[in-house]
Amino acid sequence: MTRAPGAFLLAALLACGPVLAAECDPTKAGAKISYDEKIQPIFGGICAQCHNTMETPEGLVLEAGLALDLLLNVRSVQSALKRVEPGNPEKSYLVHKLRGTQDSVGGSGQQMPAGLAPLRDEEIDLVVQWICSPAN
Ligand code: HEC
Repeated sequence: MTRAPGAFLLAALLACGPVLAAECDPTKAGAKISYDEKIQPIFGGICAQCHNTMETPEGLVLEAGLALDLLLNVRSVQSALKRVEPGNPEKSYLVHKLRGTQDSVGGSGQQMPAGLAPLRDEEIDLVVQWICSPAN
């Protein structure tokens, strides 16, 4: 069983890495990121292919005008976390689904966007900063 500690350490690193990376950056605290200007264009283009009023996977519509009310402070279907907990990206299930870490918080299903390339790191960072920002 000499390999066990190494495997455990690797698992711990994999589990902690994305969580640490999702922390709010204090140097950007106070920077307001507009959901309508910065985030909805991403979600409306890629995610609303499936998350639209016809399909609504998990009841989540990501079209303009509907998305925000279905994200902010709404409990996710797949986990005990809220989809977006303002000010707390680590506790926002949306961030875990974008990073593919949903299993680490008791969630399920695929990394989003399902079946497509993950969002770019800059785009995920923008979502994190939006959740951190007081504007949401
Ligand atoms: C190809 C279709 C498709 C695309 C594109 C897609 N999704 Fe999904 N989404 C699904 C399906 C199906 C589920 C439920 C099964 C799963 O999670 O794998 C889901 C589940 C989710 C959930 C879990 C909701 C909850 O309350 O538990 C979130 C959050 C989510 N998607 C966000 C997104 C975001 C953000 C994007 C764009 C970056 C996106 N999805 C793109 C099909 C899609």
